[in-house]
Order: sequence, then C-alpha cells, then structure tokens
Amino acid sequence: MFKRLKGFADLYEEEGEKFALMEKEARRIFGLYMFEELRTPILESTALFKRSIGDSTDVVQKEMFTFLDSKERSMTLRPEATAGVLRAVIEEDLIRERTVGRFYTIGPMFRHERPQKGRMRQFHQINCECLGTDSPYADASLICMLMEFLRALRIKDIKLKINSLGCPECRKTYLEKLRDFYASHSREGFCPDCQTRMKNNPLRVLDCKNPGCQEKLANAPAFREHLCEDCERHFDAVLDLLKKENIEADIDSHLVRGLDYYRRTTFEVTSGQIGAQTAIAGGGRYDGLISALGGADTPGVGFACGMERLALLMPKPSIPRPVFFLLAPQSGQRQRAFALAEKLRKLGLSGEMNYADGSFKSLFRQASRSRARYCLIFGPDEARENIIQIKNMDNGEQKTAPLELAADILIQDAQGPDSPAAVEF
Ligand code: HAM
Repeated sequence: MFKRLKGFADLYEEEGEKFALMEKEARRIFGLYMFEELRTPILESTALFKRSIGDSTDVVQKEMFTFLDSKERSMTLRPEATAGVLRAVIEEDLIRERTVGRFYTIGPMFRHERPQKGRMRQFHQINCECLGTDSPYADASLICMLMEFLRALRIKDIKLKINSLGCPECRKTYLEKLRDFYASHSREGFCPDCQTRMKNNPLRVLDCKNPGCQEKLANAPAFREHLCEDCERHFDAVLDLLKKENIEADIDSHLVRGLDYYRRTTFEVTSGQIGAQTAIAGGGRYDGLISALGGADTPGVGFACGMERLALLMPKPSIPRPVFFLLAPQSGQRQRAFALAEKLRKLGLSGEMNYADGSFKSLFRQASRSRARYCLIFGPDEARENIIQIKNMDNGEQKTAPLELAADILIQDAQGPDSPAAVEF
C-alpha cells in the first residue's frame, strides 16, 4: 500500500470543511478591501527565492525543496508566496496605471522542516500583498483586514505583536549598536546558530526561540529607539491607527521574522493554544524588494496566514444538511426518480438518491444517515398514481403529494420561517 510522505497531509471531513470556510471568508473579506485573486505557479526558479527571501535565512539554507530539471536548471517548490507574486506583478506588469495593486493568493507552500503539530512540509497559506504605497494607512488597513478575517473565523485568544525594522539608513546605525552589544557580551549561553548569525545575520539573533539566547538578549538595544525620523513617524502612525480601531498591538522589539526582505513594520499574530508553533500569521513591509527583483521602485506590505494552524484554532464549522434523500426501492422507477432528483438540484435543492435495489428498511437507514431533511419515497404504487411520499425526517410527519408539486412543496418548506435551508447539527 502506498503511504503519504512524512510532513504531507490529506485534507478531508472537518479539516476540509474548515479550509473551505477559510477560503470563502478570505474571498468575502478581502473583496471588501478590494483585493483580487492572483494564482501563481507552485514551481519557480530557485534564484527567485534566494534573491527575495535572502541567502542566509533558514528557509533558503535548509528548508527548500530544490531539484534540477532534465536540463540542469535549478527549480524550487515555493516555500512562500510573496516572491512569486512579485515576480508575476513585474513580469505581467500587473500594476500598470493603477496606483495601488492588491493581490491575494491561496495555496500550498513547501518547507523541508521537522514535522510536528502545526508544522508541515506541505502547508497552505492565505497570502495578501498591497503594492504601490508606502503609507502607514496601507499597513494599518492590512492589519485591520487580517484581524477582521480571524474574527470571522471565530478565532479567539490571539495576540498581535508588532515592531519596526527601520529603513536601510537607520538599520545601519542600529546594527552597529547591536554588534557592539554582542561584542560586549560573552558568546557563552548563545546557541551555536546564534553564534554564526551574530556574524552573518545579526538581526536574526533577536528572535531566536532558544530561552538561553532570549535571556542573554534581555538588555539588547531596541530598534524603536534607533529609528530615523521618517521611520519613527511611520511606525507611530501605524500604532495610532490600530489603536483608534481598538486593535491591541504589543510592541515586541525582538520581532524580526525569518525572511530577510522586511523593512519598517513587521507583525505576527500568535496563539498559545497550538503547541510550540505559535505563529498563525505574519507579515510586514518590504519596500525595496520589487526593485531588487528587477521591477520599478514600488513599495509593498503583506502578510500570510498558515491555514493548518488556523484550522487548529477554529471551532467546528456547521455543515449544511441536504434537503432530500430520494428513495426508489425498485429499478423500474429509478429512471423517473433520477429525472426528479436532477430537477430538484436544478432548482437549488441538494440531495442524493439510491442507485441499487434494497429493502425499504436498509434504504431508509441510508436516508437517515445522509442527514437529509426529507425522505422522498417513489415506489411502484407512487409511480402508477403519479404521486410521491414526502417524509419529514425531523418530526416523522409524512404526506402524499402530486409528483409535479414535489419541488414546490420542498422549496416552500425550505423557505418557511421555521425551516432554514441549512440546519446546523
Ligand atoms: P512566514 O512567517 O514565513 O511568512 O509564514 C507565514 C505563516 O505561514 C506562519 O505564520 C505560519 O502560520 C505558516 N507557516 C509557515 N511555515 C509553516 C509550516 N512549515 N507548517 C505550517 N504552517 C507554516 C511568509 O511566508 C511571508 N511570505 C508572509 C508575507 C507576505 N510577508 C509579506 N507578505
């Protein structure tokens, strides 16, 4: 028997329903903010990810699924969506004369990490990018949209953490301070990864999850105190807009995030209820990235949510009940029953029918198991008289109706004040 690969999952039943609900709510809410869907390829050239995510990041160094194709070209299964979205925006000239382009992408991403609860090798992201404006309103609006989305999914007890990573100018000054701090402290107590990062990616040391490193970093200089005037004004404006919208944001001066392209605003939404992997969404501003990829100098800000992690936090979704189960015990009536089922679906009524002969008892059991609100019975007697039995599966009431009125009766009933078309269970 074939088995799925480690870190890869089949999605079905409750988790499948949750994914469908997430996608529906994402499309609804992002649509209100005028985001449009952009689907990009899952496979891209490796160089794209190296250039955008950064050579020294864990994602590029250790986590990409990379291989050579038959012509020895290096390809990578996308580990995140931003790089591909920006490649498409540049290549297809998607911003053109509009000033701001807003795009969302939903789909699988691949990172070769050690699998655990909430951490998969194939996982799914809902990703949003807002391009063409460096206004703090764009950052705030994006975060409001994310929080609105999480609220619609009824996800509770989450925390929004925010930081500013400045621009290349103030980052230079800050990195000097940070290097001075590392130099004045013994390396003992820092994990081996951080000891390397101090040299090649000093910012990343700040968000190491190792408790020993965090203890050593307690008095590390905070970026907020070294922002240039413009970056400080930008950050304060974002914080102020969020506050006015009653969105609580904790400033976390160690929030750096694992991808190198961020500038100014960075943020993460976390939950303490999904084990070690606490981040359910993360993002930030990346002005300068589009020009680094060969496009015009276009600022951008975005985020991505991990759908598997959201699913762990969502309450069980209600599943709509089918309206009918059409029971045709004998093959002689099945063609007419089939035509009726087709007619009902064309009128918007959901349901199924039996295709095989069976005893009334076993077919009725099938009807109950389908959770249908009505069982429609169409046997030889009903066929002869052009009638149908309609049994209400909730209260057991059964009535006989002319066959041609079956659809009208179900529609009327489904629209009645006491009979919602979809009943929660
Ligand atoms: P990221 O923080 O690397 O950001 O990923 C975003 C979210 O994807 C995480 O918060 C987490 O929920 C989920 N995630 C990441 N890795 C895994 C995994 N192995 N298994 C399950 N879920 C995972 C980005 O990817 C950026 N591209 C976000 C962004 C968009 N920034 C600007 N625009």
